[in-house]
Amino acid sequence: MADADLPSGADTTNPADTNPAIEAYFLEERTFPPSEGFKKDALVTGQSMYDEAAEDYRGFWARQALDLIDWYDEWDTILEWDLPFARWFVGGTLNVAYNCLDRHVANGLGDKVAYYWEGEPGDTRTITYAQLLDEVQKFANVLKGMGVTRGDRVAIYMPMIPELPVAMLACTRIGAAHSVVFGGFSSDALRDRINDAEAKVLVTADGGNRRGAVTALKPAADVALADTPSIEHVVVVQRTKNDVEMVDGRDHWYHDVMKDAFPKCEPERMDSEDLLYLLYTSGTTAKPKGIMHTTGGYLTQVAFTHKYVFDLHPDTDVYWCAADIGWVTGHSYIVYGPLANGATSVMYEGTPDCPDKDRWWSIIEKYGVTILYTAPTAIRTFMKWGTQYPEAHDMSSLRLLGSVGEPINPEAWVWYWEHIGGGSCPVVDTWWQTETGAIMISPLPGATTLKPGSATFPLPGISAEVVDDDAKRVDVGGGYLTLTQPWPAMLRGIYGDPERYRDTYWSRFEGRYFAGDGAKLDDDGYLWLLGRVDDVMNVSGHRVSTTEVESALVDHPSVAEAAVVGAKDETTGQAIIAYVTLRGGQEASPERGEELRKHVAVKIGAIARPKTIIFTDDLPKTRSGKIMRRLLRDVAEGRDLGDTTTLADASVVDEIKKRATTSPTEE
Ligand code: PRX
Repeated sequence: MADADLPSGADTTNPADTNPAIEAYFLEERTFPPSEGFKKDALVTGQSMYDEAAEDYRGFWARQALDLIDWYDEWDTILEWDLPFARWFVGGTLNVAYNCLDRHVANGLGDKVAYYWEGEPGDTRTITYAQLLDEVQKFANVLKGMGVTRGDRVAIYMPMIPELPVAMLACTRIGAAHSVVFGGFSSDALRDRINDAEAKVLVTADGGNRRGAVTALKPAADVALADTPSIEHVVVVQRTKNDVEMVDGRDHWYHDVMKDAFPKCEPERMDSEDLLYLLYTSGTTAKPKGIMHTTGGYLTQVAFTHKYVFDLHPDTDVYWCAADIGWVTGHSYIVYGPLANGATSVMYEGTPDCPDKDRWWSIIEKYGVTILYTAPTAIRTFMKWGTQYPEAHDMSSLRLLGSVGEPINPEAWVWYWEHIGGGSCPVVDTWWQTETGAIMISPLPGATTLKPGSATFPLPGISAEVVDDDAKRVDVGGGYLTLTQPWPAMLRGIYGDPERYRDTYWSRFEGRYFAGDGAKLDDDGYLWLLGRVDDVMNVSGHRVSTTEVESALVDHPSVAEAAVVGAKDETTGQAIIAYVTLRGGQEASPERGEELRKHVAVKIGAIARPKTIIFTDDLPKTRSGKIMRRLLRDVAEGRDLGDTTTLADASVVDEIKKRATTSPTEE
């Protein structure tokens, strides 16, 4: 955006309150209504689904559950709500693997492709629904043979290979809960998660391919297994053929045990509220929380959101969620949602820069991907690398783009829309959490006029409100994002710790779910996520969101990515320190720093002008791509760094420390 188009600066008053929880400064005025072309075939184009759900959200979800899912027995009660404990579709029985596989095969879709899988070295596999069903039944019998029964837990520690969804679905088929541990996590993380869940079996692989190298998983698992008394058997998929040790009687090669496995396995009739899986959220300080998701409500909401948020046309779409299955995004939108809806997906093992920085775009061209779902961190990385990579490929098959995981800065949104979507694909920014299980706040692409950087509105059947410190509703302006009624895919608790569940999510505001995000509502009622409230800065008594300052920086044409923190300051309480990564071909200089500081002041106000700009080639991120502002605060305040084990690349911090000590600061 040229400077001339900028709103005329600094309105530092908040319309909602004189002392708001978080102030709202950033103004983004571009709007993108759904095109006529998109609306023509869209599943939802008007308001009626919202109206229907608003009238009776329980009835609405019950209709979705009947429409999208096959049940053995229908429920007696849609919802039992004993705050904060919910039970959905009480008395209903179903099987998740049956819903994801058998029913599609029975409907004649056996030959339909479930996954086009692409290994990082370039090897590929095409897996149909019938083949997936065969493999899952066999592996279900393998697990049974190892003594796994209904109600047990199975740990899974794998790279992005087809045996990962096979293992998950095999668990659901026999009524065991899985606990997938992201393959990038350490032995210690794996050990703690196995022990918390008391898993009986571990499914792993020798290794996986990542950025041209083998990440050895089995050797890491072996370290964990030295101290996991509940594990009786380990199944190892051979992927990379690195040297591994196999313990006699305990460890088994997948290909060996599958050879003789019986090919049929009847799905268990599970209760709607039986545990489907545990997924641990990785706290850096506290013990990880085993987030519990159950069966009927979860499957209903993931199928619903996958269908309507992505406007899924299962006969023609080729859908690609580029997350790792080790995160909730992969659970809900690579495995359960797409398979429940009979979609054809792409699954990719490796990183976007292997062998070159156009790998994703070559995958989109090769498979004719129509829907791409990824994270802002990836988009900003692609901005940094430059447009020559996407431009080298024909991506005209794309018709819809999605974003998840962090607030997407308006400029990154527009870059995604223009350079990946060719200016014709709606971008759906989807807000949700491991705890919510499924998308909660998002546009419906045929119905919602988009604003770049806004997740827009709660989906039909979901109710969200922004509140201030006193739990009073905010209608325009910033505050805390809360959810005010139960939803089908909501977490049922923290494994083994109901009190911690209540304390963590339900104690800050009475009767409301709050999990740490700030948000603002604009004059049109659009929701804008403002990041974690722990990150909110206090500058001369103004509570400024890091997200807004970052968005103002990314708004400058030279900037690809920015992370902003508040560091202690004698005059202003906190001063804004900005770490900035420039786009390819742009030079860092003191003048550029000054220009950026001014840009922020013009864009959102003098109060938000960074005191210091530190240019850096990279930012410290968690392995799921979230910027670790806590570390940047430590650097800015000259403290020793705390725990850095969750960092994706620890060397980034050393580089930033060096830059921080040599960057000029405004007097
Ligand atoms: O802060 C929000 C951010 O990610 C958090 C949830 O992280 P996790 O449990 O790892 O799940 C990520 C995938 C669902 C949220 O509390 N977040 C997620 N999506 C968005 C977001 N922040 C802003 N906009 C989003 N679309």
